Amino acid sequence: MTQNYPESYQALCERFGFHRGIPWAEHWTAAADFLGLLAEEVLSRRPAAILECGSGLSTLVLARCCQRLGKGRVVSLENGGEFAASTRRWLEAYGLESFVEVIHAPLREVQVGEGAWQWYDPETLPQGPFDLLVVDGPPGFLQPLSRYPAMPLLADRLAQDVLLILDDAARPDERAVVSRWLQEFPGLTHRFVEMERGCSLLLFS
Ligand SMILES: C[S@@+](CC[C@H](N)C(=O)[O-])C[C@H]1O[C@@H](n2cnc3c(N)ncnc32)[C@H](O)[C@@H]1O
Repeated sequence: MTQNYPESYQALCERFGFHRGIPWAEHWTAAADFLGLLAEEVLSRRPAAILECGSGLSTLVLARCCQRLGKGRVVSLENGGEFAASTRRWLEAYGLESFVEVIHAPLREVQVGEGAWQWYDPETLPQGPFDLLVVDGPPGFLQPLSRYPAMPLLADRLAQDVLLILDDAARPDERAVVSRWLQEFPGLTHRFVEMERGCSLLLFS
């Protein structure tokens, strides 16, 4: 269990009762401001079904929000077996395991249009419809536009009024992913939120 984390996470830990530490790794864990926004969106929108790409502290936050609302379930896709096991242990440590299914979804080569990406094994994808999609994986260093497949490959599992939340949206690669989604999905609208690593909110109008 990691006890040492930056001060920026302190308010979040207080708010959500994460008094026994949090899974935190520099460069990997979502920033505290992003997690705060995520929590606000869940608490105000009250989604019934949440799908997440890339598990970790964000999974604990989503689960705690569902617990407090008495509504909602989370499915989290995680490509790393060890990370999936770790997230499950953290959920159990906080009594949140009944709100989440962590799916170990190894990366496979998937074809999208004329391109190929390393992305979550399509065989492992859960049925929808999901009304919130949080995209924080797979890792960006793997390939250009690493998170692009989320929309084309998950679109048919999303509710009409889905909200998509993309982390690390200030990076050039994520900006390019958003531009491509906006071109390919008519009716999709985009709001960029300035924060530590940037966040993109996308909705169908
Ligand atoms: C940006 S991280 C996801 C972070 C998660 N949403 C959170 O808030 O903690 C994307 C992926 O990187 C991988 N990852 C997480 N921590 C890592 C670490 N310390 N070293 C290498 N890969 C890591 C996991 O497979 C994870 O799903």
